[in-house]
Order: sequence, then C-alpha cells, then structure tokens
Amino acid sequence: MFAPIVFLTTLVSLVSAESRAKNPALNAALRTAASNYDRHDLLPKDSDWVHDFTKHTDFTSSVGAVLTADGASMPALQGLGMTVSLLKLAPCGMLPPHLHPRATNTVTAFTGNTTTWMIGENGVRTIVTQLTPMKMTIFPAGSLHVMQNVDCEPAILLSALNSDDAGTLNILPALWTVPEDIIRAGFGRKESFNPQEVGMAIPRVGTGAIIGSEECKKRCGIKPSEG
Ligand SMILES: *[C@@H]1O[C@H](CO)[C@@H](O)[C@H](O)[C@H]1NC(C)=O
Repeated sequence: MFAPIVFLTTLVSLVSAESRAKNPALNAALRTAASNYDRHDLLPKDSDWVHDFTKHTDFTSSVGAVLTADGASMPALQGLGMTVSLLKLAPCGMLPPHLHPRATNTVTAFTGNTTTWMIGENGVRTIVTQLTPMKMTIFPAGSLHVMQNVDCEPAILLSALNSDDAGTLNILPALWTVPEDIIRAGFGRKESFNPQEVGMAIPRVGTGAIIGSEECKKRCGIKPSEG
C-alpha cells in the first residue's frame, strides 16, 4: 500500500501527496543562514525566485491537482512562513477530507463553483461555503475540510497557508493504516462492515484531487467509469 506513494515521491518531488525538499541541504542552509545576505547568496539566480506551476507533472491531470509552492518545492520560500497552492479541480472535482497540521489556510476562487465544508473541532457547527469567482474562505489550522467543484467546468482556486511546511493529512487513507478491528470499532460496526473492502476503495492521495459525487457526475454527464 505504501510502495506506490514512496515510488511517486522519489520520482516526482513536487507531488502534492508529500512535500519533500529536492535538495534538503539547501533548505537546511537557508534555515540557518546568518543573515538575509547569506540567504541571497544561496539563491543567486532570478529563476530561484519564480515558481512555474505549469511545470508541475500534475498540471494537466484530468482529475485536477494541488500544485504547491512551499519551502520544499520552492526553497526561496524556506523560512518565510508561507505556502501557495494552485488548486485545479476538474468538473465535479473534489479535494477529499484533509487537514493541515501546521497552517491556517485561505482559499480564493477564480473560476468554477466550489462548495466547501469545514469542521473546526468536536461540537462546533460545520461551516458550508459556496466559492464562486472572487470569493474566499478560511480553514483554521488543524480544521478538517473538504471541497467539491459543483460546476461542469473546471475550477481554479488559490490556496494560501501561513507556513512554508504546512503539511497535509488526508484522513481516510490515514485511518486505514490502523488494524481492521480498530477501524470497525471506531465506526461502531461489527460483521456487516469489511474494512479491507472499504479501504481498498478509498482513492489514493495521488494528485490531491479526485472526481466527486455521483449527483454531480450525473448532472454533468460524466460517465461512472471516469474519475
Ligand atoms: C453554485 O452552486 C450552488 C449549489 O449547487 C448553487 O446554489 C448556486 O446557484 C451556484 N452558483 C452559480 C453562480 O452557479
């Protein structure tokens, strides 16, 4: 189950699933640079200061993708306390339930019509928003959130996080790394529930995006086999 993820991150360091530095020694040097002059010496080229989202291997993914510029993928951001991710959602595309352990996240829509759900902690109400172009919402650090583009056209949104190492935890695949009996107990289910079967069907983190609900697919004429 872990092998494909490890394989992908080795192959493509920019994969949204995990943010690992391509050149950890450079990040370490930027972290400990004695002054801003030393930082500049470590980032000598103008191109060190540009992140081209179109160069990301997931840029043309048919399900959409989370394309991330953070300390790992853009060392110039190391130590500056920010991450910017371009969110590309296909028609009916969604980002499955996830949280960022180390950052508050704002998301601003440019195209599409994206429904977001955010749960801050036990007992607070679920905040639902509709991100049509030029609208922004907030997912405080550690809050669980999900979003789906309900439009039949692709959606583009910009995600900003107040850490250069925000981290992402997709909760469903993560939950399925504990023993089946524990999952079954957590769900309050006994024989009728087969965690292995359900677990196999949970989409991999992949590009960060998947195709969303059956209702949307039907409305937009997306074949059940797609996504
Ligand atoms: C966005 O989607 C919501 C939920 O389906 C809908 O109520 C709203 O009219 C849509 N807005 C636009 C501008 O399409």
